[in-house]
Amino acid sequence: MRAASAPGKAILLGEHFVVHGTGAILCAIGRRVRVTCSPLGGGAVRVRSAYGDGVAAASEAISSVPAHHRPVVQVAREAGGGLDVSVESDVPAGVGLGSSSACCVAAAGAILGGAAPGAPAAIAAALRAERTVFAAASGADTAACAAGGVISFSGGSHEACEAPARASLVVASTGRAHTTADVVASVRRRAESDAAAFGALRERVAGLVGDARAALRSGDLVALGRHMAENQECLARIGVSDAGIDRLVRAASAPSYGAKLTGAGRGGCVIALVDESNSARTLDAVRGAGAEAFESVMGARGLGA
Ligand code: MEV
Repeated sequence: MRAASAPGKAILLGEHFVVHGTGAILCAIGRRVRVTCSPLGGGAVRVRSAYGDGVAAASEAISSVPAHHRPVVQVAREAGGGLDVSVESDVPAGVGLGSSSACCVAAAGAILGGAAPGAPAAIAAALRAERTVFAAASGADTAACAAGGVISFSGGSHEACEAPARASLVVASTGRAHTTADVVASVRRRAESDAAAFGALRERVAGLVGDARAALRSGDLVALGRHMAENQECLARIGVSDAGIDRLVRAASAPSYGAKLTGAGRGGCVIALVDESNSARTLDAVRGAGAEAFESVMGARGLGA
């Protein structure tokens, strides 16, 4: 039996706009997906996960495999099929924390080997798998889940960012799941229908991502939080925030260094940048606003055992 695990992720700045060519800054969070695999006679792929237990025959077209198991089947077929694969996760699903990307990365590590953080072959295989369910994926999420730590992603590649060890994130869920592909498609329609306004916001976010990189380097959490809050304004302008997100952002903003949605939005989660001086107050504030919340390290280890 072979096994690998990969962390979920949060996007500190740049979601959506990264699909349209800006950079983004992401970190791995302290929740993981673990994949184990063992040989299975014949060419079929069996997948067991929280979504159920399914078998994809070797002759079945990848597009007709149920979406929740399709990426794992894709990775297994790249290894020749004939595998029994189990997926276990403590990353909340469908709320912007990279549960699907982490699954793709852990599956690539377990099935194809090379389970080293940032292994290019694992990242490429994970992205091919993710694109079987979300064709427009930028690759930022799979890169973050594979590399771990905090990364700067741009133009399909990434580099590690320095990040202050004392920083952490409060992650608060709206309790509503979203489908990333649908939200990304609606942003594309908006970008096409009002190219000038979208282009101006994209330039603003590109600037914020650069400023945030500098704030990370100098360990300036006040500045980083301010850039995250400005990024939230841009996300609201493209229609991916909503009343539930706004409520949690408002609750988290005063006690934390800055708060914003993370991932696709329209439901999902809010993140707030904190350290030991304000994490407890921020958790209290978002729980008081009705959210389930937890604190996470900002930059967990990436793909590994
Ligand atoms: C989703 O976690 C992040 C998006 O920017 C999509 C992507 O980058 O592929 C919305």
